[in-house]
Formats: sequence, structure tokens, C-alpha cells
Amino acid sequence: MLNTRFGRCNFRSSNVARYNPKDRFYRQAKAQGLRARSAFKLEELLEKIGLRSLKGAKVVDLGAAPGGWLQILARLAGAGGAVVGLDLVAIAPIGPNVTTHTLDIRDSAALERAGLPAGLDLVTSDMAPKTTGIHATDVARSHELVRLALAFAREHLRPGGTFVAKVFMGEGFEDLEREIRAVFAEVRTVRPEATRQGSREIYVAGKGLKASTPPQSRNKTAASPA
Ligand SMILES: C[S@@+](CC[C@H](N)C(=O)[O-])C[C@H]1O[C@@H](n2cnc3c(N)ncnc32)[C@H](O)[C@@H]1O
Repeated sequence: MLNTRFGRCNFRSSNVARYNPKDRFYRQAKAQGLRARSAFKLEELLEKIGLRSLKGAKVVDLGAAPGGWLQILARLAGAGGAVVGLDLVAIAPIGPNVTTHTLDIRDSAALERAGLPAGLDLVTSDMAPKTTGIHATDVARSHELVRLALAFAREHLRPGGTFVAKVFMGEGFEDLEREIRAVFAEVRTVRPEATRQGSREIYVAGKGLKASTPPQSRNKTAASPA
């Protein structure tokens, strides 16, 4: 059975009647031994933004549990690549080219201790807050996570590197998109087919981190972990 924590990863409108927890993507994920149906979203995202080869790439995946995206990234990066997954909850081992850390992305000291590499080719974030059902609150929390992921990307990506992050649509989205546009040469928003009907999640992808982008201190945007 697939990990039911996916539920917390989805931000749905009030139209829950169409929600089918065991749709075709769920069944395909299960058949292919993938830990999350969201693995298909990543494959489609990478295809749509034209990131066709990740062979030998260095990648960090934020909000990586239970590990569906890590499974795809590990396969694409291959034996010569290095993939790191970070999440609040522990992730069961994936493979020899994947390491994981259990930490809160808001905790700069924990990130420091993890000793994450610089010069990354790709930073992905599928992080989602625990939803409250209060639209404005959930959107604000999602945007806070995206800003933290962006700060992480600015610090750890190589110039020219790529950033992909899940965002809850809502007030403030344009400001967030502007912040991402300021540091990447090319920015696209993508709504993968595997996104559940009624969900307000989309993904923002920034390609080509501008060489002039200085790392931004996470402390400027980060709240202290609870
Ligand atoms: C949609 S799930 C990720 C699914 C994952 N992409 C996969 O394919 O298995 C979102 C994850 O974000 C994590 N998350 C939320 N806030 C976080 C934080 N502050 N630091 C680290 N992880 C966080 C949650 O624990 C949750 O596992």
C-alpha cells in the first residue's frame, strides 16, 4: 500500500467530490514500486522544462519523504550522480547514490550540520505545509516554504543550475514568481497531468541561476523551527 501521507501533500479546493485517492497514477506508482504517485509529476516537470539528462548530476530534493521523487532522481543521476533528500520525517533507504537527512528546512544549524554540497545542478522542492483548511494560511505557509527553498537554491546551486518548487496558488503568487524571475534566466510554471483534480498546486521552475546571484541568508526569511 502506498504511503497515505500523500494526503497532506495535496492542497485541494472544496470540490472534494472528484478526489479519487486510487486514481490511475496511484495504481501505476504502485505497479512500478514507486513510493509516491507524485513521482510522475517530477518526470513530467523535467520533461516540460527540457531537463533531459541528469546523468552524473548533483541534486538536493527538499521535502523528499516518502521518496518517490528520490527514486526518479536516483535513476536519472545514475551511479556517477549524488542525490540528497531532506525531510522532517525519516526516509527509508533508496539506493547507493542517495543520502537522506531528517531535518526541518527552517533550521539553519541542522542544514549546516548536514554538510550539504555546493555546486548543485538541481534543487527540487515538493515541500507542502500541513494544511489547515484556511486558504490564506495554507497559501502563506506554502509560500514561506518556497522562499526557504529558493534561499537554499541560491546558496547551493552552481551558476546555470535549475530550481523546481511546488507552490500553492493564491494571494502573493505574483510576488513570489517575481522573486524567482530575479535570480533565474528563465522561469516557467507547470501543472503536471498527475496533479489531482481540484488541487491548487502548481510548480515553478527556474532555469539558469544567474551568475551574479549572491547567496541569500536563510535567516532573513526563516522562522525558527517549532
Ligand atoms: C508532498 S510530500 C513530498 C512527496 C515527495 N516528493 C515524494 O515523491 O515522495 C511533502 C513533504 O514536505 C515535507 N516538509 C514540509 N515542511 C517541511 C520542512 N519545513 N522541512 C522539511 N520538510 C518539510 C513534509 O514532511 C512532506 O513529507
